[in-house]
Amino acid sequence: MRLENVRARDLAALQALIAAVPAEAPYDIAVERGDPVAAMAREAGFAPYATTVMFARAIEGLPEAEPADGVRLLTYDNAMGDRYDDAEFDALHGLAIYKAMGRPTGYRQGAGFGDFTVAMRGDRLIGFCFTQVPEGIIWWLGVVPDERRKGVARMLISSAARATRTAGGTHLLMESEDTPEARAFFGALGFRERGTRELLISS
Ligand SMILES: CC(C)(COP(=O)(O)OP(=O)(O)OC[C@H]1O[C@@H](n2cnc3c(N)ncnc32)[C@H](O)[C@@H]1OP(=O)(O)O)[C@@H](O)C(=O)NCCC(=O)NCCS
Repeated sequence: MRLENVRARDLAALQALIAAVPAEAPYDIAVERGDPVAAMAREAGFAPYATTVMFARAIEGLPEAEPADGVRLLTYDNAMGDRYDDAEFDALHGLAIYKAMGRPTGYRQGAGFGDFTVAMRGDRLIGFCFTQVPEGIIWWLGVVPDERRKGVARMLISSAARATRTAGGTHLLMESEDTPEARAFFGALGFRERGTRELLISS
């Protein structure tokens, strides 16, 4: 549960809004960095825990990725759940967003929603990408550490681009936790930075 781009004229208004939200804690507020609502949310008991960067690019012109040696892509099936959970933990446990979500995150039940593609080396699940189509919003992306820098995420993004284009979309968008590797990766693939946000979590 996340409250996106909350607007409130003062703390009392924010508190009234929060009281009316039909959600149990913990949940998130996401606002643009520097938005006055962030300070109010802190006063209302929300703690900042991550900053994110919005990356976006047009699908047109995105080069098709070379297949990484020995890696194949499959559509995710919930029967892969245990292997998925392990890969997700290995890939994402360093991220504040993953820590806040806790294990399991819920994506293991994600087959059939959007485009959910996984990268396999033999029977091992080594990477994953969950994309909302046709919007092209990439919600979840990761590659296990010992399989990085081999082009696996490039393959996953190419696949997300194909699925999005097939569904009628034109762009890819990802709000990623702000890390040097995410900036390096999306920069290398020609994504542009389109703003930063602060995530705060209720206690
Ligand atoms: C970001 C991430 C998905 C990249 O996966 P990957 O499979 O290693 O990426 P690729 O091998 O396809 O990299 C493609 C290009 O991106 C750039 N790149 C990727 N990771 C980089 C890094 N750590 N430092 C510098 N450049 C990097 C390089 O230009 C690379 O090409 P090259 O290896 O030929 O130089 C992976 O590091 C990861 O899972 N990180 C943790 C989770 C995360 O941040 N997810 C995104 C937000 S939820």
